[in-house]
Amino acid sequence: MTPEHAARDASRSLLLAGQETRRERLAVVGSEAVGPYTLLRLERNGLDPGAPGQFFMLEAPGRVLPRPMSLCQAPPGELAFLVDPVGPGTRALCALVPGDAIHVLGPLGNGFDLSVERPLIVAGGIGIAPMPYLAHALGGPPAILGFRTEHHAEAARLLPGSEVVVEPRLVSELLPSEPVDVLACGPAPMLEAVRALVPGAQLAWEAPMACGYGACFGCVVERDGRYVRLCVEGPVLRDAA
Ligand code: FES
Repeated sequence: MTPEHAARDASRSLLLAGQETRRERLAVVGSEAVGPYTLLRLERNGLDPGAPGQFFMLEAPGRVLPRPMSLCQAPPGELAFLVDPVGPGTRALCALVPGDAIHVLGPLGNGFDLSVERPLIVAGGIGIAPMPYLAHALGGPPAILGFRTEHHAEAARLLPGSEVVVEPRLVSELLPSEPVDVLACGPAPMLEAVRALVPGAQLAWEAPMACGYGACFGCVVERDGRYVRLCVEGPVLRDAA
């Protein structure tokens, strides 16, 4: 069985790490442009929104492999995902309209540890995706956001009150010198820069994922001399402080 078939044949209800993970067909209730991104709103249909930083596998129409997406917002009765249309699968997700429906599996993986005293959200580009849900859970902590262009920076409206920089300025330039508990998501070079400056930061990494629950080994990355499946041990990893 291929990983994609394994994912599709996953039972409707899995118990992963003590949490119920389900695959459901969810109706599209809205699709809204946010700069170059699309905020895709789906009916929740009983799926648990999980913890901020966890992710869901969204099955794009006409594509074999599902796409991993962290939850962006969890309004009552809905799950909302911020999608960057960078390939055929994500473009198909962005083309969905109310009345369409897709299969979604989740929640999956390990999210952010919310037991922090001085939270600071740091995100780059589409790395803003999990942050509105995280900010809501943490009661609106300060946030630093970085984007490639002013058009991409329109996504900052999802996190009102954030400090926003546009390249060539970098979010790492704005990290405070006093101790903070950084929770970050963004491109690997940004995460590596944050990791070097803030030991103990919680970092949400990206990797290609075919199954999302540990079966295909498509998401293996090397971390400090050992190999980890990001979908199971991550996507949020915490370095030793
Ligand atoms: Fe299949 Fe991680 S995506 S093992």
